[in-house]
Amino acid sequence: MRTLLIKNGTVVTHDGIKQADILVKDGKITSISPNISENSNQTIDAKKLLVMPGGVDVHTHMELPAGDIFSSDTFETGTLAALHGGTTTIIDFANQTKGQSLKKAFSRWQERANGKTYTDYGLHIAVTDVNDNTLREMDEFFSGEGVTSFKTFLAYEHNKINLENLRMVMKKAKELGGIVSLHAEDGGILEKKLCEFQKTGKTSPEYHYLAHPEIAEEKATAEAIDLAIKEDCPLYIVHLTSKKALDHIISAQKNGAKIFAETCPHYLVLNKEKYYNPDHLEAAKFIMSPPLRCDEDREALWEGIFNGHIQVIGTDHCPFTLSQKKKNLSEFWKIPNGIPGVENRMELFFHEAVNRRGLSLTEFVKLCSQNPAKIFGLENIKGHIAPGFDADIILFDPNEEHILSSETHHMNVDYSPYEGMKIKGRCKKVIFKGKVVIDDNKSLISHPEGIYLKRT
Ligand code: URP
Ligand code: ZN
Ligand code: ZN
Repeated sequence: MRTLLIKNGTVVTHDGIKQADILVKDGKITSISPNISENSNQTIDAKKLLVMPGGVDVHTHMELPAGDIFSSDTFETGTLAALHGGTTTIIDFANQTKGQSLKKAFSRWQERANGKTYTDYGLHIAVTDVNDNTLREMDEFFSGEGVTSFKTFLAYEHNKINLENLRMVMKKAKELGGIVSLHAEDGGILEKKLCEFQKTGKTSPEYHYLAHPEIAEEKATAEAIDLAIKEDCPLYIVHLTSKKALDHIISAQKNGAKIFAETCPHYLVLNKEKYYNPDHLEAAKFIMSPPLRCDEDREALWEGIFNGHIQVIGTDHCPFTLSQKKKNLSEFWKIPNGIPGVENRMELFFHEAVNRRGLSLTEFVKLCSQNPAKIFGLENIKGHIAPGFDADIILFDPNEEHILSSETHHMNVDYSPYEGMKIKGRCKKVIFKGKVVIDDNKSLISHPEGIYLKRT
């Protein structure tokens, strides 16, 4: 039996903070109490460190096909980078292609991911073609493969479904006991804006921002909430960016609807000014959808976090290299959408939320680990430090300062959206299923050991 003892740490979970030792046997936590004195194969002194559950990032896009290119992190490089930043579980998206089955999508993504991840991983399925077969397959994937979450879009030619189809997906998800997530942008508004800008020669990157107005997010959010309430289906809004959409979420939550919201570090730290950089490649680094917003929206998101209306910090990690970004700088709609972040999420959010704004440590753990695990069917194995849980644990120094940079990060992308930013708080050791895999920024693991997680 492989045993590990973590001594003298300050253990932080969603339900409290205590001084305790943690005993791990064969990758599982077996006990937590002060002064455990059992012999173990390995003992770590965690004095002065926070001992927290490994991060759960439920919004990543490794090797995402985008036209004839792919996002630049493979499951291998992206999950190793995730580990460096304290994230030990990801949930990525298998996207259905119109005209094809969910099975095809799922097996495509499994070919890329299975046996190649350094973290454990799950897959949401993005449903883009709703028909009888798709609805039948939702059943099969729910019970057979543990896919409990189905993503939808109301925009983008390749992904968009209509409101009636969204209602059908919700009805099925409700019947199964699953959850529907939504990329909340209204396709009609986006198409109209794009057409207008193309006709008038407004093609540089700042028009990406103007072509994705807040109203498009608000409309899609409001419509999907209405349907979710009618179908009594849990709804999760991914990458929320704006105040007005958040207001709809808040009022639905206040009326008892099961509406959850996620936002991402970039929407909390950066703003739309990035799009007005005269150096268009600089602006292109921040092209993602929905785009960065104004400071008022950013502050509303922070308020939503502090008031409990936003439950999850995800990354929407979807990196493209500068050479991928720079191909069509003068036609903003051709610039690949996405921004890196999987490695930065925990440390950056800790700095901004805990250090700078006074978020409690327990709330930090909820937002980064426990809530995402709970919402997405991993409640009994991930996101918590308690007997029976996987021993995915980070030892975190809240006082160590470091500088974010593409020179030192591990994500396979040659820029950092946060280049040069000094932050306080660093993952010193990352333990994945009882093994120390990252120690002082060095990887101690030679090959991917993550597994696919069937969720319940
Ligand atoms: O621009 C983004 N967010 N790219 C990734 C795909 C998505 O819509 O989440
Ligand atoms: Zn999206
Ligand atoms: Zn995404």
